[in-house]
Amino acid sequence: MKTEVIRLGKGNPEALLRAPALALRRGEIVAFPTETVYGLGANALIESAVQEIFILKGRPQDNPLIVHLPDKSRIDQVAINIPPVFYKLYESFCPGPLTFILEKSDLIPDIVSAGLQTVAVRFPDQRASQELLRLADVPVVAPSANISGRPSATRASHVLDDFKDRIPFIIDDGATELGVESTVLDLCSPMPRILRPGVITAADIKERSGVEVQSYSEGLKKADLRRPASPGLKYRHYAPEAKVLQICSDHENSPDTVVLKMLEQLSDQKIGLFINERSWDILKQRTDIDERVITEYLFSAENSQESAAHELYAAFRALDACGVDVILAEAIPGAEAYMNRLDKACVSESSDIPQDSVKNILFVCTGNTCRSPMAAALFNAYAEKQQSSEITWRAISAGMHTLDGLPATDHSISVLREIDIDISDHRSAQLTEELLAEADLIAVMTRTQRDVLQEMFPDLEDKIKTLSEWALDLDAVSAVDIMDPFAQPETVYRETRDQLRKLIVSLWQKINLPLSD
Ligand code: TXA
Ligand code: MG
Repeated sequence: MKTEVIRLGKGNPEALLRAPALALRRGEIVAFPTETVYGLGANALIESAVQEIFILKGRPQDNPLIVHLPDKSRIDQVAINIPPVFYKLYESFCPGPLTFILEKSDLIPDIVSAGLQTVAVRFPDQRASQELLRLADVPVVAPSANISGRPSATRASHVLDDFKDRIPFIIDDGATELGVESTVLDLCSPMPRILRPGVITAADIKERSGVEVQSYSEGLKKADLRRPASPGLKYRHYAPEAKVLQICSDHENSPDTVVLKMLEQLSDQKIGLFINERSWDILKQRTDIDERVITEYLFSAENSQESAAHELYAAFRALDACGVDVILAEAIPGAEAYMNRLDKACVSESSDIPQDSVKNILFVCTGNTCRSPMAAALFNAYAEKQQSSEITWRAISAGMHTLDGLPATDHSISVLREIDIDISDHRSAQLTEELLAEADLIAVMTRTQRDVLQEMFPDLEDKIKTLSEWALDLDAVSAVDIMDPFAQPETVYRETRDQLRKLIVSLWQKINLPLSD
């Protein structure tokens, strides 16, 4: 099959889009732009066409699709028992980057909703998609036009990269306006709630329509992340081939300073930078940029949130094409949709694999360069030597306030080397909600850390304790803190190591012995 790319340019959209619209209606696949990202479209009423979308993308069958309509005139075909709040929000935001979860009508095949009783509906605000949907005159499913797990497509060339000669039509109307997928809003829960963050936030919804909805971050705190309300949320997403690390600056460390530190640690790797143009200008003055090793992809410093979101996926794809090993991407606190996509790109492959016989223990300290990496390594080394039981315990570690990618401190490495444990490969990781949710048991170092985390995540309270509580059955008050040896002499590290080791042996016995009455 040869893919025909239809460039809209200044041509008459109706004339140019008639052939692809008819093909779409007949059950063929047509990729088209929306204001968010490019979509891979199929007639929602033809099951085999929808099935082909899953196959083309390599998409898990339990991840439902969004139905696209030009306007609300035929909404009754798609959804039933539509609540009044839908019409209110429609007036304020549609067409636009907002997807509604509604009760599904029987006309929509189960494959579209992956067996759920609900259906996602959206009305894109982009001239080509509007015209195409109007001409096709059927509801159209359109997931983002990328192979599952890859960065979404924000240019027609990205769609070609993933689907050349596998689909008959791609409509090219230039770069998409926003660059991140629509906000998904669940109207079937008692209080409307955002399941996927996008450009439209809970605050925008309140301001422009007066409707109160649960924000994405609010929902995350309450959710049981093992059973996500939006099935798509549980998968690793948007990820380039290269490993992605975040550049987390703060009042004391400007982005250029953080980049310099990270570059030092990644000296033998080929690096891609995704940073704002102002930071790049400063960085260039501070260091000799070796162009063989560092490739930059910049976004505007003016409206940095919009600009970073607009360019993120294109940057991932462009930097991958340059063959970089690691992408350092600037974190932008408060940019909810952008940070959500960036966080997901940083999640490692292995954390997606559910394994019932494997249980995860997560050690948490502050910087993830001394106590928690030592504890995780001590635990794993001990576990390896023990007789195998039915359950395999695996320890990882993270820090409550850290940068991703820092090695363990020299003394942590040296005192563990004394007992034949090598943690020179360790790289720090910021604690995330995903890590907390995936852990079966979370062991923190101090009572303060425990209290902070328990307050932030009351639903996870039962699995968050200090290591001493887990290991010695101490109550919350008499728990013992393991102090931070950071910046202390090696002897202090040795004491920390031995303190951790004792507790871990006790912990091991606790979690591997059946509980007595
Ligand atoms: O901006 C967008 O929404 C783009 C453009 C092309 O319209 N489309 C898009 O589709 O991002 P996709 O398939 O990549 O993401 C759909 C998201 C997934 O997270 C999926 O789990 C969720 O919507 N979703 C779909 N139906 C759902 C339902 N019935 N209940 C909860 N979540 C649903
Ligand atoms: Mg997608």
